Amino acid sequence: MTSPQWLDSWSADDGAARVRTLFAEAFGDDGDPDGVWSAPGRVNLIGEHTDYNAGLALPVALPHRTYVALRSRTDGLVRLASAQAPDERWETSLDEVTPGVTRGWGAYVAGVAWALREAGHEVTGFDAVVDSCVPFGAGLSSSAALECAVAVALDAVHSLGLACDDAGRAELVAACVRAENEIAGAPTGGMDQAASLRCSAGHALLLDCRPGLSALESADRVPFDLAAAGLNLLVVDTRAEHALVDGQYAQRRATCERAAAILGVSSLREIAPEELDVALDKLVALSSDGDGDVLRRRVRHVVAEIARTGEFADLVRGGRVGDVGPLMNASHVSLRDDYEVSARELDLVVDAALGAGALGARMTGGGFGGSAIALVRERDVDGVTAAVQAAFDEAGLAAPGFLLAPPSDPAH
Ligand code: GLA
Repeated sequence: MTSPQWLDSWSADDGAARVRTLFAEAFGDDGDPDGVWSAPGRVNLIGEHTDYNAGLALPVALPHRTYVALRSRTDGLVRLASAQAPDERWETSLDEVTPGVTRGWGAYVAGVAWALREAGHEVTGFDAVVDSCVPFGAGLSSSAALECAVAVALDAVHSLGLACDDAGRAELVAACVRAENEIAGAPTGGMDQAASLRCSAGHALLLDCRPGLSALESADRVPFDLAAAGLNLLVVDTRAEHALVDGQYAQRRATCERAAAILGVSSLREIAPEELDVALDKLVALSSDGDGDVLRRRVRHVVAEIARTGEFADLVRGGRVGDVGPLMNASHVSLRDDYEVSARELDLVVDAALGAGALGARMTGGGFGGSAIALVRERDVDGVTAAVQAAFDEAGLAAPGFLLAPPSDPAH
């Protein structure tokens, strides 16, 4: 059997040293960077495809982070280099950053500066380099980690003071979301950026995505001490291709918006679980495009998933983290059958992990590939890992990557 590939995180010193070296190579002729900043990827415990439905989500920050060394410029030029794209220097003028026009990985970076300017902040150009141990394209928010590392860097070099408290961080989240939606062109819902900027070590972040809430109302940090319960969160990067800029994610979002319009509510959050059956009947009766069944299943997922997320958080608050497994499993089945965003590789991880004794398992993130998670007793980690690896070997699939996810620090 192939031995499992563990995707280790870097120490803060290692990450900083990497980007300082890269900066010296790329832009060192003009001196040192102003500093080094970093932001984590995230893994979502439960609450999937709920953020853009004004629902609940429960992410934790990963120990895997994206590092940025940045030096501000006095002109509007943005020059970028990345260890992940060594042959691709990226350059633009901030004045030219425009929705629908700016392309490439630099859109995630320059888009943040653009969005901060749109929000009225004085932001100039900069030279920056990037390196990351967040697995790329794994559904673990490598793009949010990049945006959020840049956001705290620009906040610091321009003394905006936003990263100092949670309300300011919520403003940085909004800028990163605009960068991703409007400049990078991915219509995502905002959970990833909130996780990267607003999580805290040892906690899960219960996010309430209803519009108009204050920072205090929109996030609750729930102590999530897996080690004390003798548990581990195992993340499996299936290495199955995953892309959010493609049409499927946007289609799911549009379907939810259409269902809400048919039901006469501003978002699916407004449908209480006890009203669900009535709402589903109404949807089927009123939908005119012959897609009543699809609408019904999408809405059923969203409403039930929001309820599961609340229950999950309540169990964790009540010291019953060992009891959340059935909620994770139900979430996976719902994402697979009703929301139809799972993939063969994700189902394989879930089945193999549960078969080897995981307490619960589910796909995480947007789906269509990417990663799955399993809640595993410490003593079962090796057995579950081996079972997943064996299942992939047997199916003739490329080796997955494994990582452990103790809830970690936000962007700083
Ligand atoms: C992606 C998006 C998030 C969220 C999840 C699904 O990660 O970026 O906004 O919608 O998918 O829960």
